[in-house]
Amino acid sequence: MAKQYDILVRLLMIGDSGVGKTCMLCRFTEEGFIQPHLTTIGIDFKMKNMVLDDKRIKVQVWDTAGQERYNTITAQYFRRAQGIMVIYDITSETSFLNSQKWLRMVSENGCDDIEKLLVGNKSDAKSLRTVSREEGQKFADHHEMGFIETSAHSDTNIEEAFTVLVKQVMRKRKKSIDRQMANIRLYNTEDSIDLADESLINKDKSLCC
Ligand code: GTP
Repeated sequence: MAKQYDILVRLLMIGDSGVGKTCMLCRFTEEGFIQPHLTTIGIDFKMKNMVLDDKRIKVQVWDTAGQERYNTITAQYFRRAQGIMVIYDITSETSFLNSQKWLRMVSENGCDDIEKLLVGNKSDAKSLRTVSREEGQKFADHHEMGFIETSAHSDTNIEEAFTVLVKQVMRKRKKSIDRQMANIRLYNTEDSIDLADESLINKDKSLCC
């Protein structure tokens, strides 16, 4: 059977329990705003197909449990992800401060070149806001990552947040392929290239995920 997509992109959502990861994912996969009855246990995933730059992309999004007792399970999925969303709740200072802890987990367990996006969710809850947009932006700038505020409740910027991260992953992937092609051309001029040589492809560390 013909493959129904050109590229598979694997994303992971992390952040404290209750920041709205599951609600964001349900919005993204067009199930609407679903009030979750239970906290996520361990890990769950959903798929969505997108078309970007004429490429059919299958986005696989892993929704992790924010509760600390599941950290060992979720950490095992970090290495498989190409992009990570670090999510906090703009009405919870603690969840924002804990973004630092989540980023540390990414650097300890993920690939070096993983793409990251900081997301401040629940932007609809204006009267309860305790983390300003500026604070979020400053934190993201400091960690050299993108930043966006979203609301799963009012469906604001949800599609945009996922699209931004997918685009970041695609850009990184393209750079890595271009680098490999340049390497291959370079070796080729030396008249000794074996294009099927796996070791050549694997020389590029950015393919580790
Ligand atoms: P864990 O599974 O425990 O890690 O939590 P989670 O991050 O997946 O949070 P979840 O999606 O279960 O949402 C937690 C609560 O936040 C629920 O009561 C949601 O209704 C609420 N919530 C989620 N997104 C929003 C939002 O954008 N705005 C508002 N006001 N509430 C939201």
